[in-house]
Amino acid sequence: MQIETVMVVGAGQMGSGIAQVCAQSGFQVFLNDLQDTMVEKGLAVIRKNLERQVGKEKMSKEEKDAILARVIPSTHLKDAEHADMVIEAATENSTVKMNIFKELDRYAPEHVILATNTSSLPITEIAAATNRPEKVIGMHFMNPVPVMKLVEIIRGLATADEVCKAVKEITGRLNKIAVEVNDFPGFVSNRVLMPMINEAIYAVYEGVASKEAVDEVMKLGMNHPMGPLTLADFIGLDTCLYIMETLHEGFGDDKYRPCPLLRKYVKAGWLGRKSGRGFYQYT
Ligand code: CAA
Repeated sequence: MQIETVMVVGAGQMGSGIAQVCAQSGFQVFLNDLQDTMVEKGLAVIRKNLERQVGKEKMSKEEKDAILARVIPSTHLKDAEHADMVIEAATENSTVKMNIFKELDRYAPEHVILATNTSSLPITEIAAATNRPEKVIGMHFMNPVPVMKLVEIIRGLATADEVCKAVKEITGRLNKIAVEVNDFPGFVSNRVLMPMINEAIYAVYEGVASKEAVDEVMKLGMNHPMGPLTLADFIGLDTCLYIMETLHEGFGDDKYRPCPLLRKYVKAGWLGRKSGRGFYQYT
């Protein structure tokens, strides 16, 4: 499987990061979203990240320009007809992802691998929305994508061996480490991380400690780079809630029940960094 052109669907926090690392590794990239303004926003993040690297003399201006030139803006999934592989990184919502995969299946040539960056949804179910379940696979990047080494690789029930092998090779080309796990709700990363974040929110909700104290305990006591509440704001509280709901529904166990305070913040539109307010304020 010769893979030179990648389409990234979704130009948000994850999609722009994935597009950046693909372009930095020499792939041509279609960066796709619903509207020009969304793609432009994603491109602006990539530009800013690369300019920071130029500023730190870790990259030349020519290299930066060459990377940016490899990113082609796209607002139609039909562009998948030019891709060798698609990585979907749209909103973490089952209906949204299913519709995207149905359309991608229509436009992408038969040989094209369709990967999803879902952080918790079943790969087998997403694959079933297509006529090529053997070419569908989970490729779960971590945020911030340009920095984090891990890509969790998740096979669906029908994923072919050669697809899994090709995706692991691409992960290596992106200078990241692939770890294969099985198709269970939340996989490994969010099965372990999200209940910790949820528990930290419960600690604040029940008055065990202030948010600052909870974060300091985990940063200084466990050597975590960010406290769990800062991390929740960084990931997005809506995403955290959606993943907790997926775990709760998927396992049917009350230990995954989302904290009411998390629900309240999401209802208030306090989604973390991206909305300017979550557990902390960013404006
Ligand atoms: N995009 C690109 N690069 C970034 C970045 C971003 N958003 N944030 C920081 N960086 C880069 C900086 O430019 C810097 O690069 P150099 O080493 O080349 O100079 C490097 O990262 C370190 O940055 P800083 O010195 O500014 O800050 P830091 O040392 O505090 O690190 C951090 C920042 C990497 C974000 C660190 O705080 C961290 O690792 N936090 C935890 C992140 C984490 O847990 N991610 C997983 C989230 S869960 C997930 O993604 C899965 C899911 O499904 C929800």
